[in-house]
Amino acid sequence: MEDIAELKLDGKSWKFPVVEGTEKERAIDISALRNDTGYITLDDGYGNTGSCQSQITFIDGERGILRYRGIPIEELAEKSTFIEVAHLIIMGRLPSSAELRRFSDLLTDNELLNESMKHHFEGFPTFAHPMAILSSMINASSCFYPELLSENSKEHFELQAARLLSQVRTIAAFAYRWSRGLPIIYPKPDLKYTANLLHMMFSLPYQDYDLKPEAAKALDLIFLLHADHEQNCSTATVRMVASSRANLFASAAAGVCALWGPLHGGANQAVLEMLEEIHREGDDGSRFIKAAKDKGSGKRLMGFGHRVYKNYDPRARIIKQACDDLLSKLNISDPLLDIAKHLEEAALSDSYFIERKLYPNVDFYSGIIMRAIGIPVEMFTVIFAIGRMPGWIANYREVMESSSSRISRPRQVYMGPTLSHYRPIKERK
Ligand code: SDX
Repeated sequence: MEDIAELKLDGKSWKFPVVEGTEKERAIDISALRNDTGYITLDDGYGNTGSCQSQITFIDGERGILRYRGIPIEELAEKSTFIEVAHLIIMGRLPSSAELRRFSDLLTDNELLNESMKHHFEGFPTFAHPMAILSSMINASSCFYPELLSENSKEHFELQAARLLSQVRTIAAFAYRWSRGLPIIYPKPDLKYTANLLHMMFSLPYQDYDLKPEAAKALDLIFLLHADHEQNCSTATVRMVASSRANLFASAAAGVCALWGPLHGGANQAVLEMLEEIHREGDDGSRFIKAAKDKGSGKRLMGFGHRVYKNYDPRARIIKQACDDLLSKLNISDPLLDIAKHLEEAALSDSYFIERKLYPNVDFYSGIIMRAIGIPVEMFTVIFAIGRMPGWIANYREVMESSSSRISRPRQVYMGPTLSHYRPIKERK
């Protein structure tokens, strides 16, 4: 296949190199386009634009393939844990048992927030959305680590990464406790990562949370499945902020803000609200699907569709099975799960969704698991953010360690007024 792309414009022709990835994806390198031709490209939503070369995650949207550092998500879901996968994604390989012990100890040693951070929580109204608290407190936490801002912060990268990955969980739990008017519960060093979050969220000063292993396992799986997803909106945001050489915590806080949107990580909350609306109205989903197909309704089938997957999102398939397993183990029958399954069945046989290749994505079933565990819907996207933290950290590291990475600064096509001049106010109507 040609390694050169030729562009013909205004009677001239230019050649640009073709870059081929390790999975045979091909891209036209247009780094010299404007210098050579005076033209830029325009690609609304970057659907056709590669922003970087990365070695972290591979997705084949047509075939429904997702691999972290080359390992299929199905194998990791079956055999690994969130913290082991976090090491794989951040450090680039599965840890030896000594490396896993060291990484886990680093997380444990850094799970506490600076005690004075408690007062910040008291400044939020109890009805504050926890995503607003999460992004603010990640930046607030960084104020206690001035070395983050030092030139040689790379040397402390592993410690910074461990602090962020461990404390995002503590901040999430404290935000939940504040919203419920409950005293904060401190982490327990003998609990594993996910069990510790459930402990900090649901224990009481006089009574430890009745930790069900299957609930902790299901939540750990949700974190694992959300750990990275190549250049999605929030990860691309983290890379954008990292490209200005902002610190790791500032970049992650920006990622939290991007993830919050209902078209992205906020979709898991929107899915549950959609299912509850359908249930409340006694609809079996048919009326909602009709509305979702009508552009004028302003409704979408949340948890369906994906920019990259034009096939079933492999994570949705895994989560759907985990949903069934957990609900039967906890002996819960949730009418919202029945509605979700009916919606999926109806949509996957409806030409509107088939023609547009709209399938369930990671958000479609994840909320049912979180609801079964007792996590409130306003915390769903916070759970997504905790899961995505390893991916954000790994992408941040790639930007900082890349010798060729420049500050991200897209161009635009200007469509505003042409040259005009200032008019004194007495001349204006
Ligand atoms: C995540 O990028 C990632 O990797 C994200 C993520 C990750 O792990 O980081 O996978 C996590 O964000 C998953 C997506 C969660 N969002 C939702 O579930 C919200 C509902 N889905 C959509 O709004 C939509 O599908 C997006 C945002 C996910 C993708 O949007 P695109 O690629 O910009 O597609 P589009 O809006 O241009 O839609 C194409 C067509 C349109 O119809 P036509 O104009 O061609 O007639 O499909 C329609 C859309 O109206 N469409 C939907 C729909 N999604 C797309 N119609 C009804 N319901 C939907 N859910």
